[in-house]
Amino acid sequence: MNGILLQQAQVLDGTGAPARPLDLRVRGDRIEAMAPRLAPEGDEVIDCAGLTLAPGFIDVHTHDDAQVLRDPGMLAKLSQGVTTVITGNCGLSLVPLVTRQPLSPLDLLHPGQFQYPDMASYARAVDAARPSVNVASLVGHTALRAVAMKDHDRPATPAEIQVMSAHLDTAMAQGALGLSSGLFYQPAYAADAREMQALTRVVGRHGGLYVTHIRSEMDGVLDAMQEAADAAGAGRVPWVLSHHKCAGPRNWGRTIETLALVDRLAAKQDVGLDAYPYTAGSTLLREDLVDGVIDILIARSEPHPEMVGRWLADIAREWGVDQQAACQRLMPGGACYFQIHEDDMRRVLSHPLTMIGSDGLPHDERPHPRLWGAFTRVLSHYCLQERLFDLPTAVHKMTGLSAGRFGLKDRGVLRVGAHADLVLMDPARLRDTATYEAPVRMSEGIERVMVNGRWAFIGGHAAGAGQGRFLARPGRDGA
Ligand code: ZN
Ligand code: CU
Repeated sequence: MNGILLQQAQVLDGTGAPARPLDLRVRGDRIEAMAPRLAPEGDEVIDCAGLTLAPGFIDVHTHDDAQVLRDPGMLAKLSQGVTTVITGNCGLSLVPLVTRQPLSPLDLLHPGQFQYPDMASYARAVDAARPSVNVASLVGHTALRAVAMKDHDRPATPAEIQVMSAHLDTAMAQGALGLSSGLFYQPAYAADAREMQALTRVVGRHGGLYVTHIRSEMDGVLDAMQEAADAAGAGRVPWVLSHHKCAGPRNWGRTIETLALVDRLAAKQDVGLDAYPYTAGSTLLREDLVDGVIDILIARSEPHPEMVGRWLADIAREWGVDQQAACQRLMPGGACYFQIHEDDMRRVLSHPLTMIGSDGLPHDERPHPRLWGAFTRVLSHYCLQERLFDLPTAVHKMTGLSAGRFGLKDRGVLRVGAHADLVLMDPARLRDTATYEAPVRMSEGIERVMVNGRWAFIGGHAAGAGQGRFLARPGRDGA
């Protein structure tokens, strides 16, 4: 079998080490050799002079659970250099719920796709769909609740916790990475410490991790962080603080406090964070997030699709009602909330434990631009232009750091024997082009992307036949 020889790229290996000019040969789905010079052995030869080669990026925070099945080309991610997506975040996963009418906010994942009673059936569906990127998944606490409980506005009973634990145990044995929760959202909000700690203990037995959209990212953020860290501690599992922010003008500047708490906790337990490089968050339309102060952009509205892309304040004025009433009329739907201060966002991005996660919402009509631009925006704007950190560090935050944290074996690093997930980029041309006005736009400067040893994206176009796989956690139980 002939290989592919990439000649004289500036190679960033994903560990944070500086770039080195190297040749790299791929054979099959692995990196076979890396050296200052490699002679061609009948290989396809790619001249990479002037280009930077890195491990394919890992999007640690996605809601692509249904998207990888419905639109396996995954161009939004592939075109940024992403080769692996982690699904099941914020307590929301397709597994293990089978229903035609998922309760909110599970419907954020696309209501028609809840048909996987365990992780093995979801893994088979992913492999059958042949997505262009690899997929690894968490199990969502809200999905577990939906399966185990008839009414949800209270803590789970011991019997219900047992049902949830059994589903979680099965999913973990079948290769799930861990548990996620979204206590911010009703009805998960009703869960208590006993419920969460019981579940993290299950995860701990399998060597997984606990990933959290915490109860509050506003005034109660410190307590919410401590609550999540305590639950992780009870199961002796690593804790990930999702899309960290201090939301709302009252809390701007408070990442100084929250990151100090992260550092204190990290001295005692295994901690990670993820973040996206924008000052707007995005989620479902919710009245309680409408404070009359921050700007809110409508991303989706079932009753009023004609209002998509407009500001809530303008709509309210036009209708002659206040913003909360306008929000109510527009629901169900989604929105971008400009609730984050630029300085806080920069502080979080720069933290050494912070990984990059897009948190993109693929089913919104006019999605937040993070869906198509998060990774290239970190590289081009915050790294190369604003110099928040150097390029090896930026790449590390999307590759080696992420693979290590989530236990993705032989991914996120370039070394002999690792899986050949690669991105070849031109730092001089790198640019995210997705904006709030026009969010569905490909980035510039991503020259080629390889997934599992085969080209998936070349010169602005999809090139592969879907080389992505379901990645099971390489666990003690031998998955
Ligand atoms: Zn979330
Ligand atoms: Cu999320």
